[in-house]
Amino acid sequence: GIELGKLLAQTGYITYDPGFVNTGAASSAIAYIDGDAGILRYRGYPIEQLAEKSTFIEVSYLLIYGELPTQAQLAEFTEKIQRHTLLHEDLKAFFSGFPRDAHPMPVLSSAVSALSTFYQDSLNPFDEPNVELSTVRLLAKLPTLAAYAYKKSVGQPLLYPDNSLGLVENFLRMTFGFPAEPYEVDPEAAKALDLLFILHADHEQNCSTSTVRLVGSSEANLFASISAGINALFGPLHGGANSAVLDMLEGIQADGGDVAKFVERVKNKEKGVKLMGFGHRVYKNYDPRAKIIKSTADEILGKLKGGDQLLDIAKKLEETALSDDYFIERKLYPNVDFYTGLIYRALGFPTKFFTVLFALGRLPGWIAHWREMINDPATKIGRPRQIYTGHAERDYTPIAER
Ligand code: ACO
Repeated sequence: GIELGKLLAQTGYITYDPGFVNTGAASSAIAYIDGDAGILRYRGYPIEQLAEKSTFIEVSYLLIYGELPTQAQLAEFTEKIQRHTLLHEDLKAFFSGFPRDAHPMPVLSSAVSALSTFYQDSLNPFDEPNVELSTVRLLAKLPTLAAYAYKKSVGQPLLYPDNSLGLVENFLRMTFGFPAEPYEVDPEAAKALDLLFILHADHEQNCSTSTVRLVGSSEANLFASISAGINALFGPLHGGANSAVLDMLEGIQADGGDVAKFVERVKNKEKGVKLMGFGHRVYKNYDPRAKIIKSTADEILGKLKGGDQLLDIAKKLEETALSDDYFIERKLYPNVDFYTGLIYRALGFPTKFFTVLFALGRLPGWIAHWREMINDPATKIGRPRQIYTGHAERDYTPIAER
C-alpha cells in the first residue's frame, strides 16, 4: 500500500478523500477496532476485560509502554505520577487571566501549551529521558490543570494536590473540595470516573489523536501536540458531543419529553438538529463502550443520585431510533458519548466540563500515539495534497480598474 501510494504520487495521481474516510495515515499497534462487529481492544486486550478488571492508571501504562505492568512497574509508575502533580506557582496566574465564564476546554489547552514554557527541557522530541519526563508530567498535571479550570469557573480557591490519594481521587478532591476542609472521596464516584477514563483512553486514529500525530510529525514537542489534540476534541462532532447530548436531552425534557417529535426533526435534517451521541465513522454497530456505559449507568445513577429522568428520555430515544428505518439504513447506533453525560452530571460536574473529562481519559492514548509516531522510521511530516479548484492564471488588475 505504501509503495503504491508513492508510485501514484510520482505519477501525479492524488487520492481525493475528504475526512480521510479511507486513508491510512499511520501503522499502529495500540488500539484495534472492528467497526462492523463492535470490537475494541487496547494492545490486544478486549475493552470489556479492561473495564471490568483494570484501572485507569494500569491502562495508561499498557497503552504507553505496550504491556500490562508488573506490580513493581505499576508501583513505580504510580509513584512517579504522584510526585509530579504540583503545578509551578507561576502557572496559576494563567487561570486568573481568563474570563470567569470561559469554557474550560480552551483554558485547558492553553495551560497545556504553556507547559512547554515552564519545561523547556521538553522541546527536543528525540530526547528520550525528557520525553519520559514530559509523559509523567502530563499524566500527573492534567488533572490538576483541569481541576483549576473548574475552580476558576466557579470562583472557588484552588487546592494543592494531596499525593496520598490516587489519581482519580486526587482529581475529585481538587475539583470539589475546599482548602482546610476535610474531603471524603466517594469510592463509588471514583470507581465510576475511573471506568469512564478507561473507556475513553484510546480509539486509534480519531480526530484528536490524528491531530496530535499530525502536529507531532513536524517534530513539535509533546505538550504542543497534546494541546492541539485538546482543541480538536473540543468540537461537538468529537469530544464536545458529550455536552451536546445533555443539552439535547434537557431540550427534549423542556419540550414536554416528546421523543418521537425530536426524532422527526432529526430525520427531516433540520439545520443544527442531529441525534447527538449517535453515529460513528468506524462503528457501524453498537459502540462497545456505550454498551458498557449503558449497563452501568443504571447502577451508578441509582447509587449516586437515585435515578435520573433524563436517563429515561435517553433510553426512549435510543429505543425509538434503533427501530426507525432512517437510523437502521445508515447504521447509526449510540456512541460512547450517549450515556456518559448523565453519569458526569450525577457526579456533580457542570455540562460545560464534560469534554474536559473526556480529555483526561484520552490523554494516555494521545501520548502513546505521539511516542509511537516519533519512534516510527516511516513517519514523515503530515502534509496532505489537494485538488485545486481555483482560477487558472490571470493578470493583475490595477485597483482603479476593478
Ligand atoms: N443524527 C442524524 N443523522 C446522522 C447522525 C446523527 N447523529 N450521524 C450521521 N447521520 C447521517 C448523516 O446525515 C448521513 O446521512 P445521509 O447519508 O442522508 O447524508 C449519514 O448518517 C452518514 O453520516 P456521515 O455524517 O457521513 O458520517 P460521518 O462518519 O462523517 O460522521 C459522526 C460521523 C461525525 C460521528 C456523525 O455520526 C455525527 O455527527 N454524530 C453526532 C455527533 C456525535 O455523537 N459525535 C461523537 C462521535 S464519537 C466521539 O468522537 C467520541
